[in-house]
Amino acid sequence: MIKVSKLKKYYGKKLILDIPNFIFEKGKIYSVVGKNGAGKSTFIKILSGIVSLDEGKLEIDKENIILSPQEPMFFKGDVWYNLTEPFKLCKKKISTNKLEELLNRFEIDSLKKSSVNSLSGGEKAKVQFIRTILYDKNCIFLDEPTASIDKKSSFIVEEILLELKKIGKLIIIITHDQDQARRISDEILEVDEAKLLKRGT
Ligand SMILES: Nc1ncnc2c1ncn2[C@@H]1O[C@H](COP(=O)(O)OP(=O)(O)OP(=O)(O)O)[C@@H](O)[C@H]1O
Ligand SMILES: [Mg+2]
Repeated sequence: MIKVSKLKKYYGKKLILDIPNFIFEKGKIYSVVGKNGAGKSTFIKILSGIVSLDEGKLEIDKENIILSPQEPMFFKGDVWYNLTEPFKLCKKKISTNKLEELLNRFEIDSLKKSSVNSLSGGEKAKVQFIRTILYDKNCIFLDEPTASIDKKSSFIVEEILLELKKIGKLIIIITHDQDQARRISDEILEVDEAKLLKRGT
């Protein structure tokens, strides 16, 4: 569970977020929509602990979060290195079978030995998504994970998120795809004029 109370965030004098209270529950998918610059990424970064809040309180298990940022970041190296090295660094054992299965599912298994720099935007987004899932955290935050991914692969992302929800993960996904939000969400939220508003289920 994540509990947000009396959260306020300013950039300079501009109030970006003003959220009196909100509770996110495990085993649910929340979609966050809203126009460019509304404050969606700021919100998810605050939840992830990489951007500070100016007022208010956040109750969250900091050890059990993974954020997939809007701009993916990679090590210099090939796809396989990027999907194994981060886990070696944090001494987490991952299943190679699961990794192979995910690469197959997204039809990028032939790219294992390709440098990430040479990948297309959508291929990079797939690698980024696979890496996020492999962390196996209880709270999964995704900032526009399917923005550059084709329809078929977006559906695979959605399928995987629904599987993760079933095993109790709390998922927050920022998206501009209203249909996607309707397909997968338990709740759709909109960041609008600094507020986090419920827009449907
Ligand atoms: N570090 C920063 N310093 C100052 N202003 C910032 C900073 N980061 C973001 N902003 C501003 O805060 C506002 C919210 O940014 P944010 O990235 O949260 O928007 P967003 O809803 O994710 O938009 P998009 O849909 O374009 O990704 C924007 O006007 C942005 O220019
Ligand atoms: Mg954003």
